Formats: sequence, structure tokens, C-alpha cells
Amino acid sequence: SRHYAVFGHPVSHSLSPRIHAAFGKQAGIAIEYSAIDVEPSGFDAALQDFAARGGAGANVTLPLKEAAYALCSDTTERARRAGAVNTLIRNGDAWHGDNTDGVGLVRDLTERQGLDLRARRTLLLGAGGAARGVAPALLDAGIGDLFIVNRTPARADALADMLGQPGRVHVRYLDDLRNLGEFDLVLNATTAARDGGSFPTLPRSLLGRRSAAVSLSYGEAAIPFLAWARAQGAHESIDGLGMLVEQAAESFARWHGTRPDTDRIYGELRAESA
Ligand code: ATR
Repeated sequence: SRHYAVFGHPVSHSLSPRIHAAFGKQAGIAIEYSAIDVEPSGFDAALQDFAARGGAGANVTLPLKEAAYALCSDTTERARRAGAVNTLIRNGDAWHGDNTDGVGLVRDLTERQGLDLRARRTLLLGAGGAARGVAPALLDAGIGDLFIVNRTPARADALADMLGQPGRVHVRYLDDLRNLGEFDLVLNATTAARDGGSFPTLPRSLLGRRSAAVSLSYGEAAIPFLAWARAQGAHESIDGLGMLVEQAAESFARWHGTRPDTDRIYGELRAESA
């Protein structure tokens, strides 16, 4: 069997090994998929070691997605637009990089959650690797104006520049949030809660009764933002579990040439997280 892994820091709680094992079983493909914890400074060496041991593909999670992008010899267009890679494919002596986060998110929101994203006035909180991964796919899915707000404004500017749609993509300061009115879609792509920091206080004017709130994280890390959204009466509050399963399916398809059905493993994980 060929070797696959997810690299991250921390990564021990990653659900990816379990998801890929379920996909492999479903497809009748023997897969070895492990979780490898590595800090950014050791990522390059760890990946070389993995390749030397027969590593054929890898997922990359926090905080390594931008580093993964930098070390690929070639990348897909969607990875270039994100400046971040979550899927590595061994190609001879080199790594080919892709990013399946954006399509994973859009597939979950549109197909599983039944949201129509078209023309939705959208607020993206955060401008790190996760935000970069999903922003291009959201634009492609037909959302309306996209407002990007980040604690460090320069990173929001860089993301907006990368997206290259100045008529549609707008950067605002955190302090401006109270003046931006209501959004149809508010996505939290920050790691504020996960880092143990306090979540920035968000004005209630952001969400109305038709709004959807989406967290790109799942489990404990998703709770503060989604609890806030529910308290404001948001129509939907959606965590990142579905996105996780869908991006995994897309990565699996890149490696194995067949797209697994995601409903079953999603249902199992959802039942356990409830
Ligand atoms: P990821 O790949 O998950 O996006 P990242 O690249 O480290 O991880 O980005 C983390 C994001 O969460 C960034 O947008 C970060 O803001 P900065 O660019 O200002 O660092 C944001 N973030 C992390 N902790 C935060 C906090 N306590 N308050 C607000 N934003 C926070």
C-alpha cells in the first residue's frame, strides 16, 4: 500500500486519517494514512523523509499551508490563487500542490447545507491560510461583494490583491465592522478561539434573520463564533466538519482517481460531535 499523511502542528486530533481510511475501505484501496506533527521549521525535512519512505501524497493543515505552497515545484491554478496548498501529490522527485479547501467548502454549503451562495453579500473574517484557501472558490461560486476584515490589515490587503477583483473585493478594518451593515454570509476563518485567545467582540448588526454564519473550524474551536451567531438569530450556523470531509474527498480523488461518497463518514462524525 502507498503512504499518505497529514502534516500539521498540532495534528494529533486530526480526523483526516479516519476519513481517508473510510474512503479507502469504500473504494477497496489499501491505504496507509498517518498524522505527522511538525513545526514550520522542520516541515521541509519531514516531507523529504516522508517521500524517501514512499510517501505518495499528503494533506497539509495549520500552520503549514503557505509553506507547502512555497516548496511545490508546480501548483494548480486554484492553489496559486490561494497562495496555499492543502494537498500534495508526489510527482517523480517533486511535489505538485493543489488546494481543495475552497471547493470542499462550496460543495458542503451548496450541496449538503442547501445554501444558494449567488449574490450573497459576504464577510470573511481572517486573512491567513484558511481564508486564502476559500476566498477564490467563494468568488467563483457567485457570491456578491466580498468584504475581508483581519486583525493585521496588511494581510487582508495582500489577500485582496491576490484575488484581483477590486470592484468586488473590499478590505475593511476591524473597527469598521459596526458600520458595514448586515451580511448574508459571515465566515470565520480566524484561529482566534483555537489559539485560546479571546474572540474579538463582533457587532450584532452583522447578522440578520436571513444570514448564514459559517466557521471553517469544527469541534470546540467553532463554538464561540457559532454560539454568538445563534444568539444573534442567524438563519444558519454551520461548522467546518462538512468542509473537512469534502476537501478530503477531493484530495482522495486527486490521489486515487475516484471520488468517494461522503455522506456516510460525515454522518458518523456528525453523530459523534453532537
Ligand atoms: P490559518 O491557516 O488557519 O488561517 P493563520 O495563517 O495563522 O492560520 O491565520 C490565522 C488567522 O486568524 C489570521 O487571520 C489571524 O489574524 P492575523 O493575520 O492578524 O494574525 C487570525 N487570528 C488569530 N488569532 C486572532 C485573534 N485573537 N483575534 C483576531 N484574529 C485572530
